Formats: sequence, structure tokens, C-alpha cells
Amino acid sequence: MSLTSRIMLLSWLLTSLPLCCSISVPFGTFTAKCHERHFWLTIKASFLGSEVQFSFEDSTAIHFLSSQQAAECGYTVVLNYHGDLVFRASYLACHVDNKKDTEFRLQVWFVNRQIDGRVNAYPFKLLCSLAQPWSPREIVCEENYMEASVQWHFPVVLQGGVKRLNLLSEAPEDRAKRLSKSRVVFYRQGDAHQASQSIQEAAVLGYHIVSTDTRILLRSAYSSPLSYTLKEQDIQVEAVTAVITILFEGMSIPVEISMACAKTEPVVDGLYILSTFPLILSSLVQGWFGNGGMRMGIGERTLSECELHEGGYEATLKGQTVEIRIPSGAQGAKIKSGVIQGLYAQSLSVDLFFMHHWEDMIWLHTQHRSLQLLRTPYVPQTPTLINNTDSSTSMFSITLGVFAADVSLHSITVKDETMTWKEAGHQGLHLFQLPFSNGSHAYTLQVPFSHRLVTQKGISVQYKRYILAFTFDFIIFPAKQRYSYSADVVCDVKQPGVSAWLEGKCTEGGILVVLHYGSEDVQWELYVGQRMLDWELVRLGDYRLKSKNDYLSVEMPLYSPGMTYEEFSLKDVVAKVEFSAVNVATFKVEHSLVQRCKFPVRDLLVCLPERRMVVVTDTTRSVPPTSPNSTTLLDPSCVPVATDSTRALFNFSLDSCGTTVSVEGSYLLYENQIRYAQKFGPEDAPIIHTDSPFRLTLQCRYPVNDTRTVAVHLLPDTTIKSPSLPWT
Ligand SMILES: *[C@@H]1O[C@H](CO)[C@@H](O)[C@H](O)[C@H]1NC(C)=O
Ligand SMILES: *[C@@H]1O[C@H](CO)[C@@H](O)[C@H](O)[C@H]1NC(C)=O
Ligand SMILES: *[C@@H]1O[C@H](CO)[C@@H](O)[C@H](O)[C@H]1NC(C)=O
Ligand SMILES: *[C@@H]1O[C@H](CO)[C@@H](O)[C@H](O)[C@H]1NC(C)=O
Ligand SMILES: *[C@@H]1O[C@H](CO)[C@@H](O)[C@H](O)[C@H]1NC(C)=O
Repeated sequence: MSLTSRIMLLSWLLTSLPLCCSISVPFGTFTAKCHERHFWLTIKASFLGSEVQFSFEDSTAIHFLSSQQAAECGYTVVLNYHGDLVFRASYLACHVDNKKDTEFRLQVWFVNRQIDGRVNAYPFKLLCSLAQPWSPREIVCEENYMEASVQWHFPVVLQGGVKRLNLLSEAPEDRAKRLSKSRVVFYRQGDAHQASQSIQEAAVLGYHIVSTDTRILLRSAYSSPLSYTLKEQDIQVEAVTAVITILFEGMSIPVEISMACAKTEPVVDGLYILSTFPLILSSLVQGWFGNGGMRMGIGERTLSECELHEGGYEATLKGQTVEIRIPSGAQGAKIKSGVIQGLYAQSLSVDLFFMHHWEDMIWLHTQHRSLQLLRTPYVPQTPTLINNTDSSTSMFSITLGVFAADVSLHSITVKDETMTWKEAGHQGLHLFQLPFSNGSHAYTLQVPFSHRLVTQKGISVQYKRYILAFTFDFIIFPAKQRYSYSADVVCDVKQPGVSAWLEGKCTEGGILVVLHYGSEDVQWELYVGQRMLDWELVRLGDYRLKSKNDYLSVEMPLYSPGMTYEEFSLKDVVAKVEFSAVNVATFKVEHSLVQRCKFPVRDLLVCLPERRMVVVTDTTRSVPPTSPNSTTLLDPSCVPVATDSTRALFNFSLDSCGTTVSVEGSYLLYENQIRYAQKFGPEDAPIIHTDSPFRLTLQCRYPVNDTRTVAVHLLPDTTIKSPSLPWT
């Protein structure tokens, strides 16, 4: 719909509709207020159509204003922190029916075009009267314009000082005529030459200069052609400095009418929005400065001292600046969400009203008002994932937040299935929005471990791992930006009903025993035979221990304490270990194991606990080779219990076969010998051997007091000294 057709429609509506709408409007849709020299009309966000428009009616016509004209005329339209539309008009705006600068009437048409094309127009008659008298000079820094007004009783700077000229006794029409015939000069820093221009010429450049009943008014949009910027306390300030030359009794009287507005850039400072204003706008202050105080508010509400204090707001004077801190959760502070490089980010904004007033050498009293929507830059605010999963409930429970009100959940992906909120409900996923009193919210997702979209993995006999892999997809209104958050939450759950057990295995060099803990939470003490497995035993036996979450393994070398041997032969030996696990709490043997393993035999010497020695040796290594059949122990009647072509196996008790015993410290040393058995027949002459016959010394050592000892060693070429180990 073009602009002209909209206006035509409006005219048609005006002629065909009575001045009150026949359409029913929900209560509270419109709110009108008079506040700080402005009409305020607020229209609820929910009521706004796809296009809105304001027109103004005065005694002559209905006026539709372009945005540039609206700024020059003193009109502002903004969306506040609720998303409501705020229409503001200066009391001194165009088309306001101004009664002596004390009573102001404005007729506004609000035109709302619905998405379906329906257009409704709502007329308003706004009436405000002045709450506090005008100051000699008042300046307004609005969202879209700057405005200055001075009384027709103004200071004139002459050589001799400051005089005040009062033209208020003249008829307002005369003053208006006087002003329209004046010329104006705009001063800019650094401009060498300033030409004066007529009020009409200035109007073409965007400077609205008019006389109201008692005041001279200057208004322009920001960044007007003759404005300039400067820095005050490091804060950007836009200023317009104008001097109007009024003809009075043949003289040219200069009236300074200047305005300056700080372009404050708010920042997030912890939990506050921090905005800094210069205390003194130097282009507006001359001579001396007398601070008169300040007042602040949010939106159309001025905050009392008490409200400031209770709400945590701060307005403090820091040197030559005024620092205003607004708590980010304050009423009136709005959080806008965004996405910066894939990260969720927030910008805080607040409709700040700030007024300060002062005295200086020239102007007795100046009131300076700023009505600004402060908006901080976007700062990433990575949401927090709270894991409330409790394995006893067999349910994942996570909460993700905090998000501002403009974020809503678009879809959720669990494992590899993407679904809407509603579909998630049908799928048995519990998804809630968690609202907070400050308007922000979080999301809670609950999924039973048994859900088909939960991955299960056995990580050990004892534990099962449940994995919830999810992605939340958000949409940020109104720009419809997308943001997503993915995470995997795991929960390891102990599996019930698996008790501990022992497992035995034969390895190349010994026997391996494994204690599997199962799912029980039991402390075990392990026994090898009758002896408790402790570090000393591990060291003595050169055991290899491996401890994992769910098992403990002990590898015992073939010839080490704890082993017993059954069935020695020339071919192999069967080793046996008895292993048991005692429950520390009950002292009961709950698990026991006997593991037997068969190992091939080459050479060996074993001193058995029952004081018996078993030896397998190759007798053919001597020169000349000795037949195993022809060897005996010291007692020649002790012959091998078995032989093959090269080796002999002896098995004898240490108190037999000519074994000698001697005491060596606290040890008993048993000795015997395997040797070539010479047969002396009566008819045989002694044989003189040039080569040494086979001879091997055997030794076993046992602690004096200890009867249960084993010492085992492979048989070396000659003598064996086998250290005995205590074995109780
Ligand atoms: C809003 O309330 C929630 C929950 O108490 C909190 O985590 C969050 O920080 C609050 N937001 C603001 C901007 O204060
Ligand atoms: C979540 O909670 C469960 C249960 O308390 C825990 O096992 C897991 O380690 C937690 N963290 C993550 C990132 O899954
Ligand atoms: C050794 O001899 C004894 C007594 O005859 C017997 O009991 C034992 O089993 C034998 N040991 C081996 C390893 O042959
Ligand atoms: C050893 O003596 C036995 C019995 O006299 C005999 O059977 C065997 O063949 C002999 N072995 C060797 C290697 O001489
Ligand atoms: C052996 O016994 C004696 C006395 O009976 C004692 O003094 C000594 O300490 C014991 N030795 C060992 C190694 O137990």
C-alpha cells in the first residue's frame, strides 16, 4: 500500500467513522501519559499489526509526517523493552494546540494495518498541562532529535556584562512576527566564516525555529548540516550552537539558542548497564557552573530516591562525569539476544530518562533532558548446562539456560532424530520451559534411560553407560536468527546382580589368577594357599599385579612361593596354586580357586616344603658324556627314578640318600651330589680317568625354624645354591 493511498484511506475513515472506533479494543491496549514535557502514548505489542502509522490533526488538516519531518516536528516512535510501541511528542511539537505554553492538546490518529490487510484507525485526543513551570532554558535530547527552547525573557551578553531582555509583555503574535523576520547564525568550531541566514532558510536545512506562546524554540534531527561533534570527558557530544539576531527598537539583539547532546555508549559492567554522561556540556555553559541536581527514570516513569535505592540503580558523580548504573535485571531493562560467531550473545537495552539542571553565568537555570534507548554491544553469554541426572531415578534430567524472552525453542534433536517440542512429547521426552520472574527462562529435558534414543554401552561387567546426545535449536525473534547448543550427557550405572568371581589361567611362565569384582561393593583379602597376599609376598614371589576398575590380576611365576607341584616327570611338571578371596567384612572365604597348569621341563631343581628334592638334569654334558643310567646320589643305591637318553630325574627326601646337613647362620644347608656311579668289580683293576666324571652338587637351604619352605631353581651347569624362602 503506497503512502498516498494510506492517507486517502485515512481521510475516508475520518469522514465515514465517528471519532470513536467501533472496533472493540482490549483493555490496556493504549496508555496515555504526560511525562517530562512529553505526551506518551503506549500501544501494546500484541495489538500491533504489520504496519503502523501516526497522523496528526489540527484545526486545518490531517498531517502525515515523514520520519525527517517527525524529528524536526518533535515526534518520536520507538519500541520499548516490552516490544510495545511508544509514541512520544514534545509539548512544543508541531500541530500541538498550545494554550499559553501551559496546556497542550494533540489529536493523533493511530493507523494499524493487520497482516490480512484490514486497516483500523484509532483517534486520540491527548491533553497535558504543564506540571512544573518552564525554566529559562530547556534542552531535550530525544531519540531522533535535539530541542532547545528559551524564554522570551533572555540574557543578552553586552560589553558591560549580562543584561536580560523581557519581551513577554508583547503580544505572542508580535513576537512570532519578530522571530520570523530574524536571522540566525550557526557557529561551528573551526569554521572561520559563518553566514547568517533567514529563519526560512534555516528551516530548509532542517532547523525548525518557531515562537511558541512564551518561548523561542529550535529543533533539528541529529547530524544536521550545521551541527558539530566534540568530546567531553571522552564522550562524544553532538552540538548545535545558534545565535538568533532579533530586531528590537532598531537594535540587533543576539539571542543564543544552543543545544548539545551526549552520544553515550552504554557498556555492560558486571550485572549493570553502565552509561556515562558528561556533567558539563561546555558549549552550553559559560562563566561558572552550578550543579542543580539530577533525576532519572525508566521509560515513562521517574524513579523516586527510594525506588532508585531499592531497585539497585545508581547515579553517581565521578569527577566531571555522571555514571548511571542500571541493574541488568531491573524493571525496564530489556535483554536482546543475538548470535555472534555461533555463540549465544546478549545485548542489554534500557529506555533511560535522565534530567540534570544547572545554573551558569548567562542562563539562570537550564534543564537538560535525555530520553534515550541505551543499548550495549552484544556480549557472548554461553548458556549453562545443569546436569541433574540422578541414576537412582533412571532418568536423564538436564537444564539449559538462561535465555532472554526473545529466544524460543524451535526443535530438539536427540541422537539423530529431530523433532518439534510437540513431537518430543509424543516420543516420551519430557521437555519444559522454566520461566523466571525476571522474564528470562531455561529449558529442562528429561529422558528415561530406557528410551530408545538413549545409547547404552557396557563399559565393564559392573557398569553400563547411558548416553544422551542432544541438540537444542533455538530461534531468536524477531530477526529469526538461529542458535543451537549440543551436548552429550552420560551416566554410568552400576549393574545389579553380578557377584565377584575368581578366574585362573595358565600363562607361558606361570599361573594367572583374576579376581573380578562383579557389581558388588565388597572389600577382599586374597590368600595364596594359607598366606595372605601382601606386598612382601608380591616382592618375594616376583608376582605381577594389575589393578583395574573391575578386576585385580596376579601372575605368579612357575617356580615361586605359593606354587605346589604334582607329577614331576622328565617331560613336564604340573604346578598348582590355591587361591582364595576373603570378605573383609565377614572374614569368610567366599571364593576359592585351585588352578593347575602343566609346564614342559628341561632342567630343574626344586626344594619342596616337605624337605624333598626333585632334580632333572642333563648328564651328558660331561666329557666324555655320562649316561643318565649310570648316575647316583651320594648313596649309590639312590638311582634316578626316571631317565631318558640324556636326562635323569631324582626325587629324594632330604633325610636320605646320604644327604648332609649343616647349619649356616639361621639356615639349614642340605647337600647331596649326583655323580657317575663307578662299578668296582673284584677282578677289575682301578680305572684311571683322565677326564673328570659327571658330578653335580645339589643344595637346599631352609630357615632353621621353618618347615614350610620352598626353593626352586633351574639347574645351572654346576653347583646350585638355591636360596630358601620362608613360606608360612
Ligand atoms: C534472571 O533470573 C535467573 C534465575 O534466577 C538468573 O539466572 C538470571 O541471571 C536473571 N537474569 C538477569 C538478567 O538478571
Ligand atoms: C551428569 O550426571 C551424572 C549423574 O550424576 C554423572 O554421572 C555425569 O558424569 C554427569 N556429567 C555429564 C557431563 O554427563
Ligand atoms: C617323589 O616321591 C614321593 C615318594 O615316593 C612321591 O610321593 C612323590 O609324588 C614324588 N614326586 C614327584 C614329583 O614325582
Ligand atoms: C637304562 O637302564 C634301563 C634298565 O636297565 C634300560 O632299560 C634302559 O635302556 C637304559 N637306558 C639307557 C639310556 O641306557
Ligand atoms: C627360630 O627359633 C629360635 C628359638 O626357637 C628363635 O630365637 C629365632 O628367632 C627363630 N628364627 C626364626 C627365623 O624364626
